[in-house]
Amino acid sequence: MEAAIREIVKALTLEEKAALTAGADAWHTVGVERLAVPAVAMNDGPHGLRKTLDGVSLSLAAHPATCFPTSSAMGSSWDTGLIEQIGQAIAGECLAGDVQILLGPGVNIKRTPLCGRNFEYYSEDPVLAGELGAAFVRGVQSRGVGTSLKHFACNNQEFERMTMSSELDERTMREIYLTAFERVVKKAAPMTVMASYNKVGGTTVTEHAGLLRHILKEEWGFEGLVVSDWGAVTDRPAAIAAGLDLEMPSPGPEASSLVVRAVKEGRLSEADLDEAVGRILRVAFNTYAARRPATTVDPDAHHALARRAAAECVVLLKNEGALLPLRPEALRSVAVIGQFAKNPKYQGGGSSLVNSTRVDVAYDELARLLDGKVDLRYADGYPSEDRVEEALLQEAAAVAAQADVAVLFVGLPESYESEGWDRHHLNLPPAHIRLIEAVCRVQPRTVVVLANGSAVAMPWVDGPEAILEGWLSGQAAGGAVADVLLGVVNPSGKLQESFPMRLEDTPAFLNYPGEEGRVRYGEGIFVGYRHYEKVKVKPLFPFGHGISYTDFAYSDLRLSKPEVTDQEKLEVAVTVKNTGDCAGKEVVQLYVRDVEARVARPVKELKAFAKVSLEPGEAREVHLTLEGRDFAYYSTERQAWCVESGEFEILVGSSSEAILQTATVMVRSTQPEPAFTAQTLLKRFQKSPVAMQVLMQAFGSTPAVIFFTDPVLAGLVQDLPVGRLVNMSRGLLTEENLQQIISAVNQSTKA
Ligand code: GLC
Repeated sequence: MEAAIREIVKALTLEEKAALTAGADAWHTVGVERLAVPAVAMNDGPHGLRKTLDGVSLSLAAHPATCFPTSSAMGSSWDTGLIEQIGQAIAGECLAGDVQILLGPGVNIKRTPLCGRNFEYYSEDPVLAGELGAAFVRGVQSRGVGTSLKHFACNNQEFERMTMSSELDERTMREIYLTAFERVVKKAAPMTVMASYNKVGGTTVTEHAGLLRHILKEEWGFEGLVVSDWGAVTDRPAAIAAGLDLEMPSPGPEASSLVVRAVKEGRLSEADLDEAVGRILRVAFNTYAARRPATTVDPDAHHALARRAAAECVVLLKNEGALLPLRPEALRSVAVIGQFAKNPKYQGGGSSLVNSTRVDVAYDELARLLDGKVDLRYADGYPSEDRVEEALLQEAAAVAAQADVAVLFVGLPESYESEGWDRHHLNLPPAHIRLIEAVCRVQPRTVVVLANGSAVAMPWVDGPEAILEGWLSGQAAGGAVADVLLGVVNPSGKLQESFPMRLEDTPAFLNYPGEEGRVRYGEGIFVGYRHYEKVKVKPLFPFGHGISYTDFAYSDLRLSKPEVTDQEKLEVAVTVKNTGDCAGKEVVQLYVRDVEARVARPVKELKAFAKVSLEPGEAREVHLTLEGRDFAYYSTERQAWCVESGEFEILVGSSSEAILQTATVMVRSTQPEPAFTAQTLLKRFQKSPVAMQVLMQAFGSTPAVIFFTDPVLAGLVQDLPVGRLVNMSRGLLTEENLQQIISAVNQSTKA
């Protein structure tokens, strides 16, 4: 393949090469018939195929396809195997639709719950987002269909998304905003990465060589192609020079003449153009070879998978008095209230919108499962517009009061959250809040079922006895929620994002949405639970939280060794037992804490997880593996990942708050300490007995010795760069002496 690509690149004219670096229309690359270069099709999206009816325009009208749970929901499943299966299923629909590349997954970090596109993203945590994104890419690409890992990078709000510059330090970017992309690129090799609309540090991402060429391609070894987000390119020659390969959609054939001119005028090297063309050819040939337009898809089987998946995403947030699961044999009547029960909200607005093959209606699915054994009542509860209607509230309260249990379907309408706009607050619509209050006043046995793409505030949280987070879980969400309400499925979802008490508690509150074109990531690495735990502000529901209809006990946490270097793996084992009376699934979460660090670090960070299915009474030993990077932080000073020797805690539990087993491990870093230099602060010498010995030899017989022996003076000069001693020695110490001393210290401390 590589030899053939090299031959083709040689045979292409400059004009043909330039034409290849942009789309032929909204969804296709350019083909070159005379050299048998195929054009390939790419379409959205992360949770189902959106293939436009006319195949070439930006219209949202699309062919029918299965709408699977959105990424926010899938993030709550913590189930990499399930996500891989969904990727395979969507790939099947791509093959049948003759689409070669699927434009997903999105792995941007949920920096603020206000981001309108959070429904398309997995988590506030980069390890969870990276592992789930990698599973999705593996699933889709296992059938030869390409993916597009998006939106690279630091695209964490919709407000002014096309021009806003994300301002953040290197450590924050590496540890929080790039880690998910890095894990997917290294573990699953996505065929394309999508460069985002925004700027980073004032440079538009499509022209950001640091991100595209140096980090993505050179440091991480990404071999696929970098495609722009649609309409994100302003200067294609500059973009290609920076590492972008393909501009989408087509800007029109005349635009390629700018690339030709740039090469002729020397503003763009032909080598860079050839590299872009080579990457485009490689992806085109690979995905075209995998075409299987004769592939058939069983829509019922995909719907069943969508229903099973949606049920895995449901998070049982609260279940007082074990109100759930509803037991038909103990009930005479159930009131189902809220328009979402009959007109489900199950996906988000914008480019990811799927024209679903069918849609489960929760009310109908409940009726089907109850099969007449229980009397079902219904009330709208709120109008379809975003306003309060007293009559509907009164009707709902009356219906609820007469029933044994009330189930309320509420959430965020599309006007609140979508691609293209952010939310203005964390609350549900006023009409939904009033409904919850009105019903809980007359019916204590109330369940609230939420349909939303990101965390909502719950000032009403003490009203209902049970709360189910159903997310935007795809076309089968209605069926899945019915399955969970009636105990057909035991909920096993865990929150992939913290639910704050109020907007002011959120880490980005002081800096979002930015002003005058710049948004500062002032919270640094302290995003999500990293923030709440550090500042000790309790969220309403913590990251990793989710209740089951059964109970689990943890025991026997064991580490493969008490001491490990950053070059070795550490095996962690823990036993989980289902101590309840029904089968269930548990997500075992492993967090790591650096007990003492030279830099500020989160209280703890998720580094591994596993979902296990256990019968009543069954116990299982779960194995998780840690490696050097799991102990590391990114040093902006050294431009490298650093592991500091010292004690680390291993914390295992069923949520970030419910830590049930802990152990400690001693980590020995094999990374060399940075050399001492003239800029090294005296306090670093003072901490090293060996270094102090060398200094005492040098200064022992001089007046300066008091700076090392007198504790008060030593304190005064502890933050003095050692090179300053030359100027303070009145000629006693020359630069040359100092360099000899420093090299002697380096020699002796390296020993
Ligand atoms: C949109 C989105 C991107 C999508 C692309 C094509 O604006 O940002 O996620 O894949 O354009 O629709």
